[in-house]
Amino acid sequence: MAAKLQAIRGMHDLLPEITPLWQHLESRVRDVMHRYAYSEIRMPIVEVTELFKRSIGEVTDIVEKEMYSFNDRNGDSLTLRPEGTAGCVRAVIENGLLNQPRRLWYQGPMFRHERPQKGRYRQFHQVGVEVFGLDGPDIDLEVIMLTARLWKELGLTGLELQINTLGTAEERAQYRGELVNYLREHHEQLDEDSRRRLETNPLRILDTKNPDMAQLVAGAPSLMDHLTEQSRDHFQNLCAGLDARGLAYRVNPRLVRGLDYYSRTVFEWVTDQLGAQGTVCAGGRYDGLVEQLGGRATPAVGFAMGLERLISLMQDQGGTSDRPLDAYLVMLGDAARNRGALLAEELRDALPGLRLMSHCGGGSFKSQFKKADRSGARYALVLGDGELERGVVGLKPLRDDGDQRDLVLDNLASDLAPILNN
Ligand code: HAM
Repeated sequence: MAAKLQAIRGMHDLLPEITPLWQHLESRVRDVMHRYAYSEIRMPIVEVTELFKRSIGEVTDIVEKEMYSFNDRNGDSLTLRPEGTAGCVRAVIENGLLNQPRRLWYQGPMFRHERPQKGRYRQFHQVGVEVFGLDGPDIDLEVIMLTARLWKELGLTGLELQINTLGTAEERAQYRGELVNYLREHHEQLDEDSRRRLETNPLRILDTKNPDMAQLVAGAPSLMDHLTEQSRDHFQNLCAGLDARGLAYRVNPRLVRGLDYYSRTVFEWVTDQLGAQGTVCAGGRYDGLVEQLGGRATPAVGFAMGLERLISLMQDQGGTSDRPLDAYLVMLGDAARNRGALLAEELRDALPGLRLMSHCGGGSFKSQFKKADRSGARYALVLGDGELERGVVGLKPLRDDGDQRDLVLDNLASDLAPILNN
């Protein structure tokens, strides 16, 4: 036998057992986006490597270690997108969409060469939102409320909203100096990773997961103290808006995010129900990025959620699974098979919500009934040559002990509708 090939580590098939849950999630997402008047945008999965370097930042984990980059046949360096914001910003600049505010959303696969574990994959899926041209805290609030509504629609509980502000680039530069001084004074307490970051990206040290450094980080100077009044107002307004809407949150001064483009508001939705990979949604404001990528200065805010993590939560919290099939059509004899094929289409025309599986492949009544049973359908519809002669179709309940009874073939759709709605 030929050797079997396998999927790439960290990249998974979504099998038929699980796709109904994905479809449910995707349809709720689409519905919520529609209700908030956000428009869908679809970007390519591959972009020039330069785009991610210039937006996510040269010294981030993603760009340093996690990108799937390759040279194409022309020798250009291309990268499978590790996230959607960079491509979305490129697209709105390139297509001249920044002449008015835009509320956009997208979904699709993203690729990061991380060490796979539960909730962390090399191909994963995000739904993202990016809003351009609005600079107030009101829009930060709107995107956060949108996520909260989605959790409600999906019936998800136990998610904590954490927020922070990173100030503007200038405020951060000032703060950075003071932070570096403080960390230098305690150089001996820094782990290897942090020593490296001290030179390149010192704010990320605040995000360390190393418990030995917790005390050091707790004593670090606070960015909050370095904000201008304008930035402080922005943040306070956001907090007041969340309070007014009764949405609980925790201000987490250590929330710094792993991508370089953020300014002012950042937020994450976190759960303790998924183990180490508990952030299901994350984002914030990135007012400088459009200009940095060659567009005219345009404020922006957005987020992305990890669909695998949401699916996992939905499973743990008993999320909706697929609606069972309504009926399985069993047919025996040539004439019945021909009429049955037509009948199945007539029923699908007349009853648009109907989930009907029509038997294919012949076989005895007994073997067809076995398949009907295994399909999970509520009823078998039975059409043999005998039924055809009498102008009827047998209806047999498969999930309880009821007897088979006849329904008139010509009235089948209208007689079936109330039975299925029961
Ligand atoms: P991010 O924090 O890198 O932000 O990713 C957002 C979410 O994607 C994470 O919170 C997580 O749920 C999911 N995610 C990330 N990496 C993986 C992985 N390896 N496996 C499974 N899920 C993962 C961004 O991507 C930004 N573009 C978000 C944004 C949009 N900010 C502004 N606009």
